[in-house]
Amino acid sequence: MNAVARRALGTCYYPEHWPEEIWREDARRMRAAGLSWVRIGEFAWSRLEPAPGDLHFDWLDRAVETLADAGLKITLGTPTATPPRWMLDKYPDMLAVDESGRPRKFGSRRHYCFSHRGYLGECRRIAGLLGQRYGADERISAWQIDNEYGCHDTTLSYSGAALSGFRDWLAQRYQSPAALNRAWGNVFWSMEYASFDEIDLPNSTVTEPNPAHSHAFRRYTSDQVVRFNAVQAAELRKWTNAPLVHNYMGRILDFDHYKVGADLDVASWDSYPLGFPFDRIESDTETRAFYLRQGDPDFQAFHHDLYRAVGRGRWWVMEQQPGPVNWAPWNPAPLPGMVRLWTWEAFAHGAELVSYFRWRQAPFAQEQMHTGLLRTDSADAPALDEVRKVANEIEAMPNAGTAKAPVAIVFDYESQWAWETQPQGADFDYFNLAFSAYRALRRQGASIDILPPSIADLSQYELVLVPGLMSLSDELQSAIERADARVVLGPRFNSKTREFQIPDPLPPSWEGIDIQVALAESLPPEAQVDVAGGGGIHRWLERLDGDAEAVLHTTDGAPVLVGDRVQYLAGWPDEVLWDRLVAGWLDDAGITRIRLAEGLRVRDTADRRFVFNYGSTKASFESAEIEPGGVHWTPLP
Ligand code: GAL
Repeated sequence: MNAVARRALGTCYYPEHWPEEIWREDARRMRAAGLSWVRIGEFAWSRLEPAPGDLHFDWLDRAVETLADAGLKITLGTPTATPPRWMLDKYPDMLAVDESGRPRKFGSRRHYCFSHRGYLGECRRIAGLLGQRYGADERISAWQIDNEYGCHDTTLSYSGAALSGFRDWLAQRYQSPAALNRAWGNVFWSMEYASFDEIDLPNSTVTEPNPAHSHAFRRYTSDQVVRFNAVQAAELRKWTNAPLVHNYMGRILDFDHYKVGADLDVASWDSYPLGFPFDRIESDTETRAFYLRQGDPDFQAFHHDLYRAVGRGRWWVMEQQPGPVNWAPWNPAPLPGMVRLWTWEAFAHGAELVSYFRWRQAPFAQEQMHTGLLRTDSADAPALDEVRKVANEIEAMPNAGTAKAPVAIVFDYESQWAWETQPQGADFDYFNLAFSAYRALRRQGASIDILPPSIADLSQYELVLVPGLMSLSDELQSAIERADARVVLGPRFNSKTREFQIPDPLPPSWEGIDIQVALAESLPPEAQVDVAGGGGIHRWLERLDGDAEAVLHTTDGAPVLVGDRVQYLAGWPDEVLWDRLVAGWLDDAGITRIRLAEGLRVRDTADRRFVFNYGSTKASFESAEIEPGGVHWTPLP
């Protein structure tokens, strides 16, 4: 579908926030700035249905007409992230409940529990009503379902609805309490159950709950998000052929995005490069200061590649930061040029659309300090000029798409839950492990694909990294066996069964690499184990038994990397070691490394090499001098 989409720009607009008299002029100015898409409606439930069954579509009809008349394509959102106040009178128990048992009340947004059947029915109903009214309307070019699943920590809920849903889910999965007891090892600490109705949610226990219990709850919860989305998707598909989209967030890992994405046509995400660094990215204060007004040079790229996989090739940025946001602990302004740079980085990774959040800054309510493309007084905000510039540049480079990367990282949501449940070391974090590998590859100029653990074909890759994968599926095992690529497994690879037990035989249990992980230790920040030749292992180190010859070992002679085409990595490399390892793997695979000055990053499309300067000083690349915040492109070498 849509093999050569055209790169496009858009914005997020809230007609219900503004007097109707200004809609037309707003729409005209959007078009004049080079925007061709507008997203509306995703929080408007209280205006669409101010009281149960009292439907008001007239204003939305007029908004659609005004925006479409100006030549804008419309993404219409279902408003299910913001149920109106009356919904609570109908379903007082629909709120999510936090881990300590407190309901998360009305007065902001996302105040619902994914397990609540009554609320799910209301979402199906409103999606159906919108579908019925606008589904065949060609002015609606896409649909967004809900808004940012999981944002504000709203995936996990310990409500009554979650409890009864979890018990049903367990009964279906295990069939008998005896089977569940065996699978979880409940003989330990006399945790055995005689009936599914005895099983509680894994919160408020005296000390940690059984990890198998926690993991089952994580899986159950993820399934509720998938179902919630699938119900609305199925409802909308009765009425429309337009693509269905969800806007995911950065580093939200509590549900399996690949599974949600399987029911949609396009993945999108909300990219806030200056909001993320303070709470979502591990870095030291010096590095953060260096990138203060530019954002992390790899975090957005990682998510672009991740959501390209979630969208099975089709993906957008639904919300792009245009200036200071309101929600981070500190909210700096971007360096001039960064809005353009972020936009082109997304396009270089294959985005079809980059849409800015939001059109006009709101003078009221929670986000009044969040900038838009217009100020509250309707004057142009600084980003608008950069948007115009990108719009002009797109004319010369209209086609969306990116290159097939030669390198891939397998990224798995279940492994995130597993190592959150059982980190074993305070800083063992799956996302950070995968991201540290990704960063190392980017530092060498590599273009990267991120792959789901269900990937069945690796034949197009030269190098595949599989860090921290909890359990190996048959599918991935045979894909690795059939591939020609260098594949690097570990650390912590295949170290749990699907039921969260230590497997027998011991991991990695890979035919052809004659080793077993005999012991694993986690290391505090002050401890680092040096590796012969430079760099070291921190956080996590495994001791290997077996005969396989080490390619790399610690200065004490313990194996760190073993194997041949398929290798096993027995620890968490520090930055120096990652750089060494990645350089070696890329050289072996015949992938040219690119020398990059500090702050520069590269992404190849099918015909161009894009170079981005995230640094705060000028940097040279080949014969070009790139300003801070600058973008440079050349034909592919
Ligand atoms: C996103 C959200 C938007 C808006 C924005 C502010 O997380 O989807 O509705 O709140 O953040 O940065």
